[in-house]
Amino acid sequence: MITLDGLAIKALGERASSLIEGLNAFSSQEDGLTRLYLSKEHKEACAYVCAAMETVGLTASIDALGTVHGLLKASEGNPSKRVLIGSHIDTVRNGGSYDGNLGVVVGILALEEIRKRGIKLPFDVEVLAFGDEEGVRFPTTLLSASAIAGVLDPSEFDLSDADGISVRDALKALGGDADSASALAYSRDETLAYLEVHIEQGPVLESKDLPLGVVTAIAGARRFSFTYKGVAGHAGTVPMGLRKDAAVSAAQLICEIDKVAKAEEQFSLVATVGDVRIKPGAVNVIADEAMLSLDVRCEDDECRQQAEAAIVAAANRIASENNTPVEIIDYTAIDTVHCSKRLQTLAGEVLQDMGLPDFRLMSGAGHDGQVMAQLCDLGMLFVRCKGGISHNPLEHCSTEDMGYAVEALVRWLEKLGSHHSSES
Ligand code: GLV
Ligand code: MN
Ligand code: MN
Repeated sequence: MITLDGLAIKALGERASSLIEGLNAFSSQEDGLTRLYLSKEHKEACAYVCAAMETVGLTASIDALGTVHGLLKASEGNPSKRVLIGSHIDTVRNGGSYDGNLGVVVGILALEEIRKRGIKLPFDVEVLAFGDEEGVRFPTTLLSASAIAGVLDPSEFDLSDADGISVRDALKALGGDADSASALAYSRDETLAYLEVHIEQGPVLESKDLPLGVVTAIAGARRFSFTYKGVAGHAGTVPMGLRKDAAVSAAQLICEIDKVAKAEEQFSLVATVGDVRIKPGAVNVIADEAMLSLDVRCEDDECRQQAEAAIVAAANRIASENNTPVEIIDYTAIDTVHCSKRLQTLAGEVLQDMGLPDFRLMSGAGHDGQVMAQLCDLGMLFVRCKGGISHNPLEHCSTEDMGYAVEALVRWLEKLGSHHSSES
């Protein structure tokens, strides 16, 4: 068994910590971290990541959709294959420092170690820092990874943020180009695997007292917006029975959604209304419009689809009972994605070589790997998250755990390299 040098792990963790700290500077919020796709801060973070990649000897570039690429050419021969490592550098509003950023930083440092240790790999390796994993600014998600995976729907470039700016225009303003997106797709024949390291964002590893775990699958998800139309009126004069109040319809639907999700007993179905907007938004005016967002997830696709159908039926029933027509938009649908068995086995062996158990868990959170799995085999490692808290400024990952993550990724790549050489 290979023994671990505690000091080396700590040093790797400190390198990760300093890059994470550096990325924290790119935020639209002074007292926290908000970095939305194609914002000024996102552009600055791309330049920072590019420089960090170049410092460790990678060939870095930024593509037409704002994904940063850092390439390490193979040290053996002239390979026909490449392995991708990735995660994202956009954040939610008032988010944590590790969600996404950790995977990018760990990828860069793992390749630095591969070079420093003179490890020979029979494939090129590229780190990708994606820009649109959170889907917070535009009603799109995983756009930048979808382009690389060759599954992008170009109609998404016409979708707009809350200020009416389309993805296409936001790209242009930052020097990107929607029309070049189709050229970004990687070939399936050349892409061997996509590996992603991500903070767990839940409490399981902490409860098991483990720094790392091997991910088995990513739960499927669907997102909607429901917009009820009412009639604005004077808050003091229109009797309750004569109102067409869009806010009341939205409130009733929120309660229905909660009921549908809580009624599921077999699978861990979750449904979240994270955004509600009422118009005109005045204390003395009956609402003439109410929009609510919905995010539904479940490891079982059929169970999720049944819940979605029940919610849509409830939304229509409420619309007709309250005389407030509803417009329903469905903008993201991803089925549950399974990680490659072979990559899970190799990652499990790596953990055991490091003196850790081969612990497996599934992901309730979404990741760039969900679309990258349409291009090639997907492998994911989770890193322990303090208190299971994420999408919150309190999100935390210890320096030592980040060191373990870098070491594990180095060894995972090395193992994949020996398997690939012996297979080809
Ligand atoms: C991203 O963090 C998501 O799961 O929504
Ligand atoms: Mn993430
Ligand atoms: Mn996230």
